Amino acid sequence: DWNSGNVIAEQVARIRAQVGSGRVLSALSGGVDSAVSTALVHEAVGDQLVAVFIDHGLLRKGEREQVENDYVASTGVRLITVDARETFLEALAGVSDPEQKRKIIGREFIRAFEKVQSELIAEAAAEGDPMRFLVQGTLYPDVVESGGGTGTANIKSHHNVGGLPEDLQFELVEPLRTLFKDEVRAIGRELGLPEAIVGRQPFPGPGLGIRIVGEVTADRLEILRDADAIAREELTKAGLDGEIWQCPVVLLADVRSVGVQGDGRTYGHPIVLRPVSSEDAMTADWTRLPYDVLSKISNRITNEVREVNRVVLDVTSKPPGTIEWE
Ligand code: XMP
Repeated sequence: DWNSGNVIAEQVARIRAQVGSGRVLSALSGGVDSAVSTALVHEAVGDQLVAVFIDHGLLRKGEREQVENDYVASTGVRLITVDARETFLEALAGVSDPEQKRKIIGREFIRAFEKVQSELIAEAAAEGDPMRFLVQGTLYPDVVESGGGTGTANIKSHHNVGGLPEDLQFELVEPLRTLFKDEVRAIGRELGLPEAIVGRQPFPGPGLGIRIVGEVTADRLEILRDADAIAREELTKAGLDGEIWQCPVVLLADVRSVGVQGDGRTYGHPIVLRPVSSEDAMTADWTRLPYDVLSKISNRITNEVREVNRVVLDVTSKPPGTIEWE
């Protein structure tokens, strides 16, 4: 019978056997898999591990703080945050095409990671103790999907922005390889990780970058971040997190519509709510949210978020609609 305490003990022993006294690097994304795999490795080897978190500016409200404050407080992991917000914004300037955005975000992520990685490799080498291992949050379904291979390449790079350079001489440490998502969450809770990270719903690697239909700018990101935070807060408050697989909140940045506020006419942007229910994201149905919850979210977003004068609900199943708008 499955028991998260046993799995932790077993994985800690395995990690120690694999890594010995070697140094280990890890990339945190803010998501469950990287958070739990990193925490397990830290449990096993302590300060032989250094974790890197790249703030690409496409995160949701509070996510960086969750990692920098709550995650670090609960694990004691040595964390290096790279503030790459400016670089990503510059690289995304003028780009509206979704696939182009994904390419740019993936490329910039690798660049930013490689930069800090080479600094850390140099630092470790200077201390006569080279960096040899890299943590990967590979789950059992990823292993099956990719044909079961192991090794040094990153098998998730095709769909995760957590994708790391493939030419590394690192040996991979993959403590979640035999586990399913709900088991990973149970282990994360057992390790005392913040619920906001352990219980996080799926969130795409390119983040808010693919939830702004149109060009990504600092201004638009701020608008979307505020609207998204309100929607998440109200859904959680209403106890609906379990029912919803995920709820993209999308800014139609290239659309304006006429509205009215007080005595004046407004000309603002619509926000789309896309709550879906799903088992695996391959197919999905739109979640029948209670009207009073929708009403609360709509009122709050239009009152509290500047430039947004309309909230619309996406009632399309997948197929034909995808979960994300881009
Ligand atoms: P779609 O929109 O294709 O989304 O129905 C299916 C699931 O995949 C997520 N998604 C992504 N995840 N990088 C990711 O890491 C991406 O580029 C990406 N695009 C979509 C989406 O959030 C949903 O869970």
